[in-house]
Parts: sequence; C-alpha cells; structure tokens
Amino acid sequence: MHKIFAKPLFLGKKVVFLPQCHSTNDELVLLARKFNEPEGTLIYTDDQLKGRGQRGNVWISEPGKNILMSLLLRPKFLSPSNQFNLNLIAGLAVVDTLSDLIEASIRLKWPNDVYINEKKIAGVLIENNLRGNILESAVVGIGFNINQRGFNIPTATSLAIEAQQQFDKEEVMEKMICHLEKWYMKLKTGKTEEILNSYHDLMMWRGELRTFKSSEVEFEGEIIGIDSQGRLSINVEGELKTFGIKEVQFIS
Ligand code: BTN
Repeated sequence: MHKIFAKPLFLGKKVVFLPQCHSTNDELVLLARKFNEPEGTLIYTDDQLKGRGQRGNVWISEPGKNILMSLLLRPKFLSPSNQFNLNLIAGLAVVDTLSDLIEASIRLKWPNDVYINEKKIAGVLIENNLRGNILESAVVGIGFNINQRGFNIPTATSLAIEAQQQFDKEEVMEKMICHLEKWYMKLKTGKTEEILNSYHDLMMWRGELRTFKSSEVEFEGEIIGIDSQGRLSINVEGELKTFGIKEVQFIS
C-alpha cells in the first residue's frame, strides 16, 4: 500500500509505488530523462531485483521489509564541484530520522553509509546528471533496513533489530523525506559550513588511527575529515593525503 506524504513541503509530493522493480534508481533515472519530472518525485518499491550499491556492489533486501527509494532533485544551484554535498545531506537525513526513533550510537561512515551500534543500517547511492556545467538532476537512492530480522552479512542490521520492535516503513520514509527537505534547504541557502560541521561531528573513526588500503598497499592513518571536494583526508605519518571513493578501502 502506498501513502500520500502530507508532511513534506515539496519532496515526495509525486509518489510512484512499484510493487517490484529492478532498481528504483534505474527507474527514476529513466523517468527523469524521458519526461519533465518535477523535483521531489519519489519512486519506492517493496522488492528490488537488481538493487545497486556503491562501488558496483549489489544491494540486497528482503521483499516488503525495508525502505528502497529514490528521490529526484534538481539542484541546478549547486556547482558540480560541490555535488558531494548531496551525499552529506542524504546521510544526515537518515541520521536525523534514526535519532528521532531510537537512542543509539549513530555514525556516518565516509562517504555516506549509516551505521548504528557499529553495524550498517542504510546506504545511499546518488546518480547525478550534468548538462555542461549544470547539475540538471540528481537521483538520490536510499536503502534503509527497517523490519528485516536476519542478514547474511554480520555487519548489517535494521531498525527492528536495534529497537526490538516493528516500524511502519512509510511513516519512517515520510520522516526521512522531511529531514532531507530540511537539509536540502540548508544547502540551497548556502549553509554548507553547517552541513560539513554536522557531517564531521558524526563521522565514524574521525580522529582515530585506522588501517586502510590504497593501490594494494595497506597503511595506517588518522581520519581528519573530508576536504572541499568531499574526498577523504587522512593523516599518514604527518602527511595529509586525500582519496576519492574508488581509491581507498577501510580495512580495520
Ligand atoms: C550502498 O551503501 O552501497 C548504497 C546502497 C543504495 C541502495 C539503494 S536501494 C534504493 C536505490 N536503488 C538502488 O538500486 N540502489 C539504491
């Protein structure tokens, strides 16, 4: 069943519910290209057959249990060099939603995996469409584990596992859309410092010595934060190094 989202002001006002699809991101990318879809169009599904994650990974979710959604933004005001801010606000919106529902340790693992009690509960996949130097559209895909009770990977969890209760996933989704709207408005009105500070405050392992791998070489370093392009900054033996998403792996 799908609900009309009454609380958000401009996101999620047009909702397409698909009982099953390949990937809500793929569906929305196609829709946004073919038609002049308004900003805020939302596609969500109960069952995704080819859910996609970051770094070419698959996103697997038990049918009917979790939030699998994609939202269309038209952030023409944002210069392409600042597009990583969309990742930050999507992660922050999930964190705010979780904070409304549960008391727990909630962290953002760079770039925008959401962790609760040291397990991954949500992930974000953003696909931008640039026309020249204009950010024509961005499809913000969010997979957020709500009512699934068992996972094949020991590092995954859900809200139901952490809170020991079931949730109405449409209600959680509406809350999240409201938070995303709030952060998107901050971005639109130039509050990028507030966004970056909030992200840094929640950043997992920031200030800690950790092991990473880049170009097949393992090394230790301290996460400093993200730089002005959203790259991960690590202090490696006194030298500040920055990495893009495909350039570094967290080992431990
Ligand atoms: C990740 O952590 O790797 C990102 C996962 C993103 C998954 C969501 S589910 C809804 C949307 N459709 C997709 O195919 N992927 C995103």
